[in-house]
Amino acid sequence: MNVHNELTKILPQNEIPDTNFELDEIDPITKLDLEVKKIAIERQKELEHLKNVDSYRKEYLGNVSHELKTPVFNIQGYVSTLIDGGLNDPTINLDYLKRADKSIERIIHIIDDLETITQLETGSLELEFEKYDFSAQCRDVLEQLDMIARRKNVTISLSKKFDKPLMVQADKFRIRQVLVNLITNSIKYGKEGGKTDINFSLYNDDVIVEVKDNGIGISAEHLPRLFERFYRVDKGRSREQGGTGLGLAIVKHIIEAHQKTISVKSSQGEGTIFTFTLNRV
Ligand SMILES: Nc1ncnc2c1ncn2[C@@H]1O[C@H](COP(=O)(O)OP(=O)(O)OP(=O)(O)O)[C@@H](O)[C@H]1O
Ligand SMILES: [Mg+2]
Repeated sequence: MNVHNELTKILPQNEIPDTNFELDEIDPITKLDLEVKKIAIERQKELEHLKNVDSYRKEYLGNVSHELKTPVFNIQGYVSTLIDGGLNDPTINLDYLKRADKSIERIIHIIDDLETITQLETGSLELEFEKYDFSAQCRDVLEQLDMIARRKNVTISLSKKFDKPLMVQADKFRIRQVLVNLITNSIKYGKEGGKTDINFSLYNDDVIVEVKDNGIGISAEHLPRLFERFYRVDKGRSREQGGTGLGLAIVKHIIEAHQKTISVKSSQGEGTIFTFTLNRV
């Protein structure tokens, strides 16, 4: 900036003082000082980031081993009892083997989920976009989950609008995972004899999908952390239902990998609504 030029804009010619210097010529020491300060701030930020990554890694490992411990200890218990003579006891031998098998299934489920999450977080999971009928997919998922819903006496209903085809552009397999998790949650955390309604509306190029239940609901303090991996509102109840708290973290990653959004509204004792968007074609 030339000071003389600037002053001519605001002062009469005869009042302009002699200004034979440029304002942006800061002396080299001040310049150096500024540079050093800038570098220091950047280093500080980097350090904070590394600290966060480290504490996240520790927490993650802690969570993983904690989740795996229960089924592994269960298996150990059943196998030990069988070795200690239970094998010859027809009242327990098959039963204990079946229970051990269930625990193994649980471990496999946890590992599968962890693998999916890692792939989604490192970006190594490539979505396979295709054009398909979302209505047909919803009907299909409902049919698959019908047995689980019946066991809890929960009625799942699709809006009439799903009778007609609704074409979307998305990764069919991953969106199926989203639907399965949201609907399974609505059954698991629903009331005995409860209801889950699935509906959609159209807005510009988006399909806005809503999964609404009249279950136990989630109190406001839990909502901000709900999509974090391993986060469960009622750990006891979730584990009893075979939950790890990875489902919603996976769901959110999948939707965000589609450049779309998901949100939740809930009130305790009344029910929960999950809303996500998809690209319509
Ligand atoms: N529809 C719902 N109604 C009430 N609470 C819910 C509902 N959906 C999720 N939650 C709460 O949010 C938590 C996280 O859900 P999420 O699907 O991530 O895990 P999960 O169902 O416990 O286990 P996973 O899906 O990994 O088998 C659940 O443990 C439950 O406490
Ligand atoms: Mg779940």
